[in-house]
This record gives sequence, C-alpha cells and structure tokens, in this order.
Amino acid sequence: LCSTHISQLPTEILLHLFRYLGPEDLCHCGQVSSAWSDLAKTGSLWRHLYPVRWARGDHYRGPPADLNQEPDEEWVKSLQDEGKAYQEWDEDADVCPNFNWCCMCVLLPQVRQILSLCPNLTHLDLTQTDVTDSAFDSWSSLGACPSLEHLDLSGCEKITDHTLKKLSISQKRSDRQAKLLKSPPPISLLDERILHLMGGSRQALIFKQRTGTQRSSPSRVWVLDPSELADIEDAAEWNRRGGVSTTEGRGFVATKPGGLCCCRRSRRRGLRTSYSTSYWQQQYGLGEACCGHSTCCTGEMALRACGGLQCLSYTTRGSAGAEFWTKCSSGGQRCLELYNRTDQSDARRSLRFLSLSGCYRVTDLGLRALSQRGGLPFLEHLNLSGCLLITEVGLQELVSACPALNDEHFYYCDNINGPHADTASGCQNLQCGFRACCRSGE
Ligand code: FES
Repeated sequence: LCSTHISQLPTEILLHLFRYLGPEDLCHCGQVSSAWSDLAKTGSLWRHLYPVRWARGDHYRGPPADLNQEPDEEWVKSLQDEGKAYQEWDEDADVCPNFNWCCMCVLLPQVRQILSLCPNLTHLDLTQTDVTDSAFDSWSSLGACPSLEHLDLSGCEKITDHTLKKLSISQKRSDRQAKLLKSPPPISLLDERILHLMGGSRQALIFKQRTGTQRSSPSRVWVLDPSELADIEDAAEWNRRGGVSTTEGRGFVATKPGGLCCCRRSRRRGLRTSYSTSYWQQQYGLGEACCGHSTCCTGEMALRACGGLQCLSYTTRGSAGAEFWTKCSSGGQRCLELYNRTDQSDARRSLRFLSLSGCYRVTDLGLRALSQRGGLPFLEHLNLSGCLLITEVGLQELVSACPALNDEHFYYCDNINGPHADTASGCQNLQCGFRACCRSGE
C-alpha cells in the first residue's frame, strides 16, 4: 500500500476538500502553511458572509435557510446589554468595553474591505450593526457585487440613500475588469490579508491586516473555473488602481427655499408622518422643513446634502426627463456620476432579497435610485418597515420597477397608503422594540 501525505495532494483536490469546511475550520487551515493560507483565501470558498452571525459563534455559511427568521431572544438581550455597556462607557476611554468580542468594533471597519475584495458575494447579512455608507465605497468604483442576491441591512440605522445609490450603480463589469478577472492575479496581493480566528469569552471572527513581512516565495495560483472566479485579489487590484472614497458624516436634507414640506402637508392629513417624522426629527436633529421626501421638492431641483461627507445628490427635471446626480468629494478631489433614468442598457442586478427594516434615514431619493436603470427585476423580498421618511410616491416608483416582487414579502409602514396596500404585508417592527417604527411607544 502506498500512502500519500495530505501535503502532497494536488491543490485542486485540496480545494475540493476545503469546500466541505466552514469558515472557522477554513481559518484554522489557513494558519497551517503559506500554501494552505493562499488556498483558504480562494474566493469561491467565501461566497456567503455572515460576519454578525459568525461573531456570535454561529459559523453557518450556506444560503439563508429562512428569510423571515427573526432574531432570537438571546440575541436581542445581548444587543440590549451591549447598548447598556455603551451608555456606561467612559467616553474618555480609547476602547470599547466589549473589545474582546464586540462585533461592532472588530468587524464593521472591515466590511468595506470585504465588499471590495469579494466581488462574487451572493449573500451579505449585516443585520443590526453600525455599518455606515462608507462601507460601500468600493461600489462607487467597482460597481455593486454583480452576484449579490441577498442584502440584509435590517437595523442598520446609519444607512442612508447613499448606499442605495451605490447599490444601484451598474453591476456590469468593464472589459478591463473582466480581463483582470480572467488573468492570474498578482501573488503579492494574496498576502495582503489573513483571516484569523480569536477566542475569548465569546468567539469573534476577525479580518486582520497582515503587518509582518511579506512572504518571498509565492505559491502557484490557479483558476479552476473562470465562471466561478471569485478571487479577492482581483478586486484588490481594481481597488489599487483607483476608486472613490468618502468620509462618513451625519446627513441633513435641505429643500429649496420656499418649498413646502410634505410632512407639513401630511400632518394636516393626519397621516403617519404627523407622529413619526416629528418624533424622529426630534430624536435625530432633522429640521422640520428637512424631511428627505423627494416629493417635498416638486420644483426644478431637490437637493440633498450630507454635512461633512461632502457629497451632494440631487435630481433635476428638464425637457429630457428626470436625471439623478451624485457628486462626491474627498480630499479636494471631486467626482461626478450621472444616473440617467432613461439609461437601462446595462442593468444587470440579481438582487432577490433586500431588507432595510429600521433604516429610518432612507428616503424616496434612495428608492428612486434603485428603481432607475432597469430597477430590480428579480427582487422578491423587500422590507421597508420603519423607513419613516419614505412616501407612497417613492414606493410606487420602486414597486413599478420590481416585477417579481412578492406581496407576501413586501413590508412597509402601516400608515402609508402605498402600492399593493391590500395584499402587501404590514410593518414588521410594530412589536420589535429595537428597530425604528412610527408606532414605537404606543
Ligand atoms: Fe409605521 Fe412601523 S413604521 S407602523
């Protein structure tokens, strides 16, 4: 009998074996040797990322089993405990009191890297995290992950229209990008990152940047199937060649002087905005005239600006129809992106599930961005519960661009008389207690 040591197995066989491993085991394998480290970073092994679940010790890596899964009580309690810890946190301290395991501190600053280095992601769950628009910066230069089918941003209160605009950017790759995907990537880029597991009172998955010396003897990189290419280093190369980055800031909305805010109109009608908008404006410092509704600004221009972010997004209406512009600046450099709503030539969006439940900063402008350029032809599940600033107009516009939407899986505020009102599901946040809802406290 002849025996073969595992280190002598062909890399193709090893990769096949690695497909049976979960994220925790893959990370362990990645620490065995340089060759295994490279192998464990193969993009096709990391198609489903659940950083929040993994930080909780649940190392599931398949597609979501139950799209309607609600957070369990233990998870809710741990969130509430974390909230208390933050409240009691000495503001002069440099570190979070939960730094051993807190997924908010450890994982989220790296979400941007995940998105830029894993262009073939299909599922991304960032439920109930502090993720901000800047995490999606790479989508400005690379386009959103073209295979992304499931995006769960439930409870991500810092998400605004900017993320939706980035999500709406064409997912079609340029010839140059496609060529890069088919070429063997530069070896040195493989060494930029390692995945590392750390133990503590609770386990946390940490995406850690290598700080030591780079390896000098690169191993061979191979491509098994060009159609499955998901190599993170390709994206790193794109990223290296330039991109747009923005800084995070708190947004505000300004309407054209003299423009009548629809919140005021709604208040007279006694609709949900009479309570919710004033409550959230009070809570988060949004001015009364600054509601974020695109329908408030029915004049020639509606302007939305983010202080500190140095980003402007606005719509213009002219003889050629409506156009949606985003202007960003960072470090004195400015970029300008034009979203022409009549341009549907390159829509290629595979999103089937989108949850923005509790993302109360999202407005009609964000919904409009998603509905433009071909909309979301495969979207079946859309959760907009707790999106307090959207209106029936924005909803109608988006729904008309989502032909596959299943009413059973379509959630929005009960107090909006929106599309499919008789058949759509209502707000999911009524009993939630920790996500935005205009009926909180009732
Ligand atoms: Fe209005 Fe929940 S957001 S009922």
